[in-house]
Amino acid sequence: MADVLYRKLDELTDDEVYEAYAPPGPDWLRVNFVSSADGAATLEGLSGPLSGEEDKRVFKVLRARCDVLLAGSGTVRAEGYGPLVLSEDRMAWRRAQGLPEVPVMAIASRTASLDPGAGIFTQAPRRPILIVPADLPEAAVEPFRDVADVIAAGTGEVDFTAAVAALRERGLRQVLCEGGPHVFGSLIAAGLADELDLTISPLLVGAGPMRVAEGEAAPEAVPLRLRHVLEAGGNLILRYVRGSSDE
Ligand SMILES: NC(=O)c1ccc[n+]([C@@H]2O[C@H](COP(=O)([O-])OP(=O)(O)OC[C@H]3O[C@@H](n4cnc5c(N)ncnc54)[C@H](OP(=O)(O)O)[C@@H]3O)[C@@H](O)[C@H]2O)c1
Repeated sequence: MADVLYRKLDELTDDEVYEAYAPPGPDWLRVNFVSSADGAATLEGLSGPLSGEEDKRVFKVLRARCDVLLAGSGTVRAEGYGPLVLSEDRMAWRRAQGLPEVPVMAIASRTASLDPGAGIFTQAPRRPILIVPADLPEAAVEPFRDVADVIAAGTGEVDFTAAVAALRERGLRQVLCEGGPHVFGSLIAAGLADELDLTISPLLVGAGPMRVAEGEAAPEAVPLRLRHVLEAGGNLILRYVRGSSDE
């Protein structure tokens, strides 16, 4: 069984945090979520109130490590995602790795119910990608053609297996998904999630909010292996990768 790292996050240097999230292979899909201690994925309709400066440090490292940041339209709308920009030190880290300064943003929507004039499209440092079902009428997609590349995958639904393959064909092999819960549910059901980075925040939210995976049921549970536990301000920052604990 591989060792599990238990550390206080503030004892780790930035290089050690980058190293703690080194992907095991060139094609990797990781998902990052924060949850309350009682399993809520939102508080007051957002993830922000569950999160703090501590897990934001990991959140930013994960963004810096990916080729493409994938999010569902529900998350983009609720969280008011703007253009994908990174701080100067994160961009410098990427340059040193031979990566483009920023990742590409990819947004999945069944209906293209987004504003093509929003900053996430018009102010993006790299041309974003809109992922929609192939049978979505062109009238819904056409307003995005000037501001985004379009990946058409699936019928009626986004087929994430085909969508992720299309991202990889473009060289976008390290995928970070920031949710939301319905997209994560679909990724689990399709067997695409290689890693879950989960922050458990020290809060009881009570009944009502979604959990981190919703929507489509998975055909079977996927075993995960715990790689590390970082503690910061009462938050547990967990890294799980696909596989059983006796591997
Ligand atoms: N705790 C956290 O870390 C965290 C992270 C992310 C989000 N959130 C929260 O989650 C909430 C949003 O949840 P959500 O589940 O609606 O967000 P979501 O998964 O980001 O978006 C759902 C939308 O994605 C689109 N979609 C495309 N293909 C899909 C497919 N195969 N399966 C499911 N959806 C598909 C649909 O778009 P259209 O409606 O455009 O057709 C659907 O309405 C917000 O309150 C946000 O704050 C929390």
